[in-house]
Amino acid sequence: MVKLSVNVDHIATIREARKSHEPDPVAAAILAELAGALGITFHLREDRRHIQDRDVEILRKVCTTRLDMEMAATEDMIKIAIKHRPDIVTLVPERIEEITTEGGLNVVKNEKSIGRVIQKLHAEKLVVSIFVDPEIDQVRAAARDRADFIEINTGKYAETKKEKERARELFSIEKAAMEGQKLGLRIAAGHGLNYVNVKPVARVKGVEELNIGHSIIARASLVGMERAVREMLSLIT
Ligand code: PXP
Repeated sequence: MVKLSVNVDHIATIREARKSHEPDPVAAAILAELAGALGITFHLREDRRHIQDRDVEILRKVCTTRLDMEMAATEDMIKIAIKHRPDIVTLVPERIEEITTEGGLNVVKNEKSIGRVIQKLHAEKLVVSIFVDPEIDQVRAAARDRADFIEINTGKYAETKKEKERARELFSIEKAAMEGQKLGLRIAAGHGLNYVNVKPVARVKGVEELNIGHSIIARASLVGMERAVREMLSLIT
């Protein structure tokens, strides 16, 4: 059965909109685990737009499933990963101007430098995943770099509106997963998955884990709305 790792970044996005103490992504992580999530994911960005260093510290202490730290392959981030020891480190590209991660890491182009980062993390006995587009060459480069996992980027599949194109994107994901498995990589997938488009990806052979954030946080904010309003009314009426 495919596992769900819940990305709690956007709970922190709401908190940071007011530079407040609530909502706390740590509380969201605990609730997600109680609801059956088998992993918690966060992305510590260089600009700290959502997750903060304090969150990383506390998440590491309280998460009892599997903690996945997404990060850029920089020296600063490597130090933080070594300090806090997430159960898995996922290397992602990062641009300060982007709203969200825009694509997979170009492992083909940066094979040597990414390989060196993986070596450093492996030397600290950390498990490493690389976020890659569903392209055979990228999967092969990730295997040559000795990644433990790849996380296949489902962003294009999720964005595509036309059915034929979506089927083509799904096929690319299937082929990438098959190639990864053949090369001994473990396979995750994620980005842009939601309640409408997730099922076909969950059925892709070899995919053992899905990483989902925005859609779950978006739904949580609405399905909890009635109760939140009722609780406030009960205080003032
Ligand atoms: N996987 C990676 C590598 C990501 O960067 C993100 C977004 O932070 C996700 C999965 C989750 O994407 P979404 O928030 O669209 O579910």
